[in-house]
Amino acid sequence: MQIVIEKNLKVPMRDGVELATDVYHPDTREPTPVLVQRLPYNKELTSLVNFSLDIQRAVRAGYTVVVQDTRGRFASGGQFNPFFHEAEDGADTIAWVRRQPWSSGRIGMVGGSYFGATQWLAATQAPEGLLALAPYVTAADYHEGWAYQGGAFELGFNLHWTLLFLALGELQRRLGAGQATLEDLGALIQAVDQNDALFWRLPLTDMPPLEGLAPYYFDWLAHPDEDDYWRRIAPKEHYANITAPALNIGGWYDLFLGGTLANYRGMKERGGSPTARQHQRLIVGPWAHGVAGGAFSDRLFGMMAGADAFDLTGVQLRWFDYWLKGLDNGVDRERPVRLFVMGANIWREEDDWPLPDTRFTPYYLHSGGRANSAAGDGVLSTEPPGDEPEDVYLYDPRNPVPTVGGPTFLPGLFVGANAGPRDQRAVEARADVLCYTTAPLERPVEVTGPVALVLYAASSALDTDFTGKLVDVAPDGRATILTEGILRARYRESPSAPTLLEPGRIYELRLDLWATANVFDVGHRIRLEVSSSNFPRFDRNPNTGGTIAEARADDLVQAVNRVYHDRAHPSHLILPIIDRA
Ligand code: BEZ
Repeated sequence: MQIVIEKNLKVPMRDGVELATDVYHPDTREPTPVLVQRLPYNKELTSLVNFSLDIQRAVRAGYTVVVQDTRGRFASGGQFNPFFHEAEDGADTIAWVRRQPWSSGRIGMVGGSYFGATQWLAATQAPEGLLALAPYVTAADYHEGWAYQGGAFELGFNLHWTLLFLALGELQRRLGAGQATLEDLGALIQAVDQNDALFWRLPLTDMPPLEGLAPYYFDWLAHPDEDDYWRRIAPKEHYANITAPALNIGGWYDLFLGGTLANYRGMKERGGSPTARQHQRLIVGPWAHGVAGGAFSDRLFGMMAGADAFDLTGVQLRWFDYWLKGLDNGVDRERPVRLFVMGANIWREEDDWPLPDTRFTPYYLHSGGRANSAAGDGVLSTEPPGDEPEDVYLYDPRNPVPTVGGPTFLPGLFVGANAGPRDQRAVEARADVLCYTTAPLERPVEVTGPVALVLYAASSALDTDFTGKLVDVAPDGRATILTEGILRARYRESPSAPTLLEPGRIYELRLDLWATANVFDVGHRIRLEVSSSNFPRFDRNPNTGGTIAEARADDLVQAVNRVYHDRAHPSHLILPIIDRA
């Protein structure tokens, strides 16, 4: 089939700004359904345009595909301010597509990550003709689960994303317009290459490579609380306006997993039409952001784990065939949830998320007061604690616990250089990492669903962080991260109303460790790690109680943090146990 591409059409927005748009036409004179993708990363870059769906295959399947540079990016006009224009610009683009002679008026949207965000934000306007979405590895909110998590700044993601994927494009654009020099470009490339060193730079607001180029980075730092700045642009605040059904696709090691799961549930409960509420779908693979092959250096999930073997493009095209072409292909009769269960290494269909037969089970923390490191005496069991001494560690922000894999977005992104199921033994050798581990399992235990941690904890500081990590320990000692979370203590009561700690007082803290699907095999052990930093994935809490983004290196203080596990303070992990013997 011959694919005709119309390049750089200027699509006018309501304020007159024109967005550069390519249209990939299938070989037909008939109007066709249309798939729209809006991205800020340059529509000329084939690998990014095909990030979630093979565009050529979609065209061969009879779709017209529209790919647009978002406002202020590459060939488009206007100023870029992440998220803030995407609802209106998305709706205006859909309205333009509807009017075109090649369009059947039945439109879907595709794309992952930021271009998943452009789907949700367009959908908040319920533009006529937008009948289905396929958001891939994207969030529900650009505060919780994007710029921040549990109140901590997602330093690794925010800085690397802004430097490499946003600021560099802006500088290239200025260079083209004669507003920047090759020296400026050289300096920025050097900053990208020194990204690891920049993570250590304090105060966070002092980030020269981004000054003047990415003002929004400083806006994010200026809005640590969940406030109106964030609420305005959060899809989760607008579910009631969204009428399109969505095929939500995520990864167990994706940094937006929490939002992917929240979108599925939130739209089921609060979506703006019966169709949207009844036809949410969820797919989660053993993938990290930009790494969807199902193979990581420390763990292989088998032949069928990759997005290609799963045929992610085919699955999405089937979805759109149903909603946009009206084919009776059974999509409406399928079970709504498809999960890859790690350990068992199989795909499984389910009736809902969380799984209806989940047995949420408390696993209590125990020790004789020396749970520091994997060599300590920490135990995890379903027995509630008796009278046990607390565990104590020193959190020193000058020597934070390093990020080793997990749901990250760090340099080396596309090869998962520091992402996914990495071995935690180096981290677990540290005295500031408490480890609580079950006895070797006598039968396989499946943990599939949301994971939460309830900690009874105290700090010597006015504010500090607590982290939790769920780990699968193999008989040979390999300790593979499954999922993790963080809570900045000042946000323990509310993400929008920070309250400092009273030093020494014991608080009940609830950490959202997101979710996993994993079978712990016979002989394996379930481990919980507790600590107070995970750097550079998250910024370091300086423990001062002051404005964190403005803390200088000299301001950092150590905190003595305590985790209690006794009758009155039964700290516990809540695991979603699935019994399918
Ligand atoms: C993102 O929006 O996070 C993204 C997606 C693909 C490549 C790089 C970044």
